[in-house]
Amino acid sequence: MLKDDYPIEPYRVKVVEPIKKTSREEREDVLNKAGFNIFNIPAEKVYIDFLTDSGISAMSDRQWAGIMVADESYAGAKSFFHFEKAVKRIFGFKHVLPTHQGRAAERILFETVLREGDYIPNNIHFDTTQANIEYRKAFAVNLVADEAFDPDLKADFKGNMDIGKLENFIAEKGTDKIPLVMMTITNNSGGGQPVSMDNIKKVSRICKKHKLPFFFDACRFAENAYYIKTREKGYENKSILEIARETFSYADGATMSSKKDALVNMGGFLALNDGDLAERLQNLLIITEGFPTYGGMSGRELEALAIGIEEGLDEDYLAYRIGQVRYLGDLLDRAGVPIYKPVGGHAVYILADRFLSYLPRDQYPGWALSVALYRESGIRAVEIGSVMFAKKDEKTGEMIFPQLELVRLAIPRRVYSVSHMHYVADAVNSLYKKREQIKGLKITHQSPHLRHFTARFEEIK
Ligand code: F0G
Repeated sequence: MLKDDYPIEPYRVKVVEPIKKTSREEREDVLNKAGFNIFNIPAEKVYIDFLTDSGISAMSDRQWAGIMVADESYAGAKSFFHFEKAVKRIFGFKHVLPTHQGRAAERILFETVLREGDYIPNNIHFDTTQANIEYRKAFAVNLVADEAFDPDLKADFKGNMDIGKLENFIAEKGTDKIPLVMMTITNNSGGGQPVSMDNIKKVSRICKKHKLPFFFDACRFAENAYYIKTREKGYENKSILEIARETFSYADGATMSSKKDALVNMGGFLALNDGDLAERLQNLLIITEGFPTYGGMSGRELEALAIGIEEGLDEDYLAYRIGQVRYLGDLLDRAGVPIYKPVGGHAVYILADRFLSYLPRDQYPGWALSVALYRESGIRAVEIGSVMFAKKDEKTGEMIFPQLELVRLAIPRRVYSVSHMHYVADAVNSLYKKREQIKGLKITHQSPHLRHFTARFEEIK
């Protein structure tokens, strides 16, 4: 039963890294010192780290071997050309600029194309794209189809952009105020849901009609391609590479955090077709990241990326990967824990507002749940909800809360086993049974951008 529903790991383990349990008293102390911010917890004090799937993948023996033979030359390193070739083969764009991670690609792109008061539509912006846009006094606009906000609706592509909303938005604001349209695959802030090829084509067509550049936020493009292969008619016999190439063929460029589907611990890039824009981006790259043949990366990181991005297309790997995430989701679902459905590609998202239905949004149920999970079991998960995304309405002064209040159990690639999934499921299930004991939180310190990283909290007695 296991083998068919949840394919087993297509690898065996060659290197291990010990993890250690902590006592409840220790964790209590850690939480107090951390100001109840899970980002402030030393990783050593975390038993199972589901904070993120980013930059924490296990590398393969081939990647480690690549690191040994990598070229660290300042200009024209061999490893850069390996990297460029691998990216071009999959993405098909003419120009590739290496950056140290995804948000550096975003910063360089937005600093170059945005003016104050501009708009960037997306299905749902991730926090870093939103922050990079708002930092330049422009607006990050989410135009995902409404079904993304129904966590019980079992649809195949809940990451899709709402085509009507996009058309109306362009008509309302005018193309002058929209330097480009983005699409996040998979849709991280909306349950890790995929976008269909049909939707990609439609968005592309609208962008072409209005002469608007179309860019992907492509972090989890391989997982998205796997969903297209397994869920969208006409793609069942295509390879992941073919689907990825088709995906990118409809766009003008992409920002990429290689810390996800390229299976590396650090890295990113910008890829695009427009030569003039590439040159402007490159100028900024040189000033802030590095010479164009390394950007923000070392030769060994470029080499590991060139190998990892290919491995990330392997179908057996993707079947196991998506299956493992679904396995954890199914364990929770069967126990009655409210989760976002269907389970997404890289994470299981708990519906924190249902889990802690008695807590008002301004007591941050998602954050409170992530604190409780750490306190009870040493598991670190991340809130994707009110602390991350709530905003004050400039006119009324009222807080606007995001539609979804989620706690994300993000699963690193090739790192944890089935027994780890059972440990987490048991911990979440037993916490669910005594959920009434979990207290709300108030913020005692926060910064104006990406406040979740540094905010401090107190428990409301
Ligand atoms: N876009 C998306 C959709 C992301 O998920 C991330 C990072 C980024 C951009 C930024 O990339 O971290 O390399 O600068 N997501 C991580 C996460 C941090 O936990 O989901 P980065």
